[in-house]
Amino acid sequence: MGDHDYRVQDEDLIRDDIAGYLRKHETKDLLRLLTCGSVDDGKSTLIGRLLYDSKMIYEDQLAAVTRDSKIHGTVGGDFDPALLTDGLKAEREQGITIDVAYRYFSTAKRKFIIADCPGHEQYTRNMATGASTADLAVIIIDARHGVVTQTKRHAFICSLLGIKHVAVAINKLDLVGWSEAVYDRIREDFNAFVSRLAFADIHFFPICALRGDNVVDPSEHTPWYDGATLLHHMENVNIASDRNLIDMRLPVQYVMRPHLDFRGFAGTIASGVVRAGDSVVSLPSRRHSRIKAVYVDGEPIAEAFAPMAVTVTLADEIDVSRGDLLAPVHNVPTIGHDLEAMVVWMHEIPAEPGRTYLIKHTTNLVPGVLGAVRYKMDVDNLRKAPGEAHALRLNEIGRVHLTMHRPIAFDPYDRNRATGAFIIIDRVTNVTVGAGMIIDRVVREPVQGPKSRHIAEARGSVSRRDRERRLGQRGFTVWLTGLSGSGKSTIAYELERQLAAEGRLCYVLDGDNIRHGLNSDLAFSADDRAENIRRIAEVARLMNEVGVIVISAFISPYRADRRRARDIVGDGAFLEVHLDTPLAVCEARDPKGLYRKVRAGEIPQFTGITDPYEAPEAPELRLETATLSAERCAGEIVAALRGREVLP
Ligand code: ADX
Repeated sequence: MGDHDYRVQDEDLIRDDIAGYLRKHETKDLLRLLTCGSVDDGKSTLIGRLLYDSKMIYEDQLAAVTRDSKIHGTVGGDFDPALLTDGLKAEREQGITIDVAYRYFSTAKRKFIIADCPGHEQYTRNMATGASTADLAVIIIDARHGVVTQTKRHAFICSLLGIKHVAVAINKLDLVGWSEAVYDRIREDFNAFVSRLAFADIHFFPICALRGDNVVDPSEHTPWYDGATLLHHMENVNIASDRNLIDMRLPVQYVMRPHLDFRGFAGTIASGVVRAGDSVVSLPSRRHSRIKAVYVDGEPIAEAFAPMAVTVTLADEIDVSRGDLLAPVHNVPTIGHDLEAMVVWMHEIPAEPGRTYLIKHTTNLVPGVLGAVRYKMDVDNLRKAPGEAHALRLNEIGRVHLTMHRPIAFDPYDRNRATGAFIIIDRVTNVTVGAGMIIDRVVREPVQGPKSRHIAEARGSVSRRDRERRLGQRGFTVWLTGLSGSGKSTIAYELERQLAAEGRLCYVLDGDNIRHGLNSDLAFSADDRAENIRRIAEVARLMNEVGVIVISAFISPYRADRRRARDIVGDGAFLEVHLDTPLAVCEARDPKGLYRKVRAGEIPQFTGITDPYEAPEAPELRLETATLSAERCAGEIVAALRGREVLP
């Protein structure tokens, strides 16, 4: 590598062929990088070094730094590269960086945008902001301290935000005597931690940012290191294959109607290639058309690709508006109200499950209800921590369910960083409070088909109608949902009593009973609960076929599971009843002594305490059992059944 020929080349070009110089820089590709490190790891110094050694700072700026080095510098009046980048005054005064700052520089090979994210503990959110578009993360480790909590946090967030390439700069190696052993140990520690994260490649660099060793020029202090310098790596790391050129997604930002004969849809291509002639579908309306023409800067072109800003016209007059998404007919994203996401919380006021926020997704702004937190990520060991699952606090990361007021078209984030990401905005203050990455939806098809294709359906000549007529009632399912101790069993048996007194045939399916028999193989993980509810719903459906009124009493804490139960049983024969009882009341009642045991740490995954309860948004009936008697509650359900002509 030696001296940097390109600087000389550039100087020649600037002198002899300025147009050539500009052209060369215009067509260079762009690498977005994110730098992360803890306080004092030397991040600012490293960035300063990159800018300085690649001669990409202006002389006047340099003069100021040389002057400031005498006053603020930490290197005894020598040139201190950190002062180049510590642009924010507050940082100079407090010694910490407080916001994301972007810096631009270029070499002969590439242009770079550096997102400089602060290392201070509270500022995970800033990092999330900088990371969502980054190609490469430079994680800085102080050789004296090795892999610390912050390092792990940074690595995890980088992986969460889909950064594929990592460069680990092991800094201040001079302070450990340029020790190869120290370098190797940190390498091993880091590799051990990230083995479960999805990075495409990780490279390590033994550096001293302050003096520039192995940053731009190779160091004479590390004869044992024969790898590239950091800058060389930044110039050459292959990012072209990271782009998603397959799934065409064009979120519509504006509908352009300059005159009556032209209706264009403008937006930035999120991924893939847009070509004239392609068949497309507009989402969520699912109307089909063909791309008539693609324009860039008002000029028609045959095709365009991400991240170009384009305007397209369609062959048909279909209704497309701002916020809609154009996608290929045979490669559509998921469309729906419900999504699962990893959310990074960015505000001092914790997330509030059940509250409606504004969700900004591509060009769309849609209200959505934040569900309870399924689990939080403990970034120190990459484990799921169910504890205190109720609220996400500042900087915490957790898996959350969102229910949108309107359907949106989305992809999983690991497939598409544009259509798989969203931000969460507080409706009142208009402040961004969180960012989310959509994960592949747990595919729980409403009603699953059989596992084998060779299973037909048999049908006899006696119908459900016949059996119902004979019983003088409709087969029906009353679905009670609520916390443990909310009164599900009590009300279920009271309802059974009242209906039996009228001569109705009914049957109670109760959580504790079924879990002794049919579902004795299931515990209380989200998956087990889902399977529990699925089986109950199938049983209820069978009993409804016979004409029996089923009263089911299960916590059934997850909205998606209850929705599937409704799908299995059939919407017309399903009454969702939410026993809405404050947790404190349930806990005070504690009929089975379970809450006491939970508080004593004897029961994990307990609904309402360490596991979420997603209250129904629109149940057919909501009963406050804290104030209503069991008879009264059952009476209201009977009235609802009469209203639905379940009972004569
Ligand atoms: S559900 O969540 O899958 O719908 P289900 O209603 O079947 O739960 O079972 C709940 C009953 O199991 C409770 O009434 C309680 O008696 C008992 N139970 C034991 N452990 C737990 C737990 N971790 N969470 C909830 N209920 C539990």
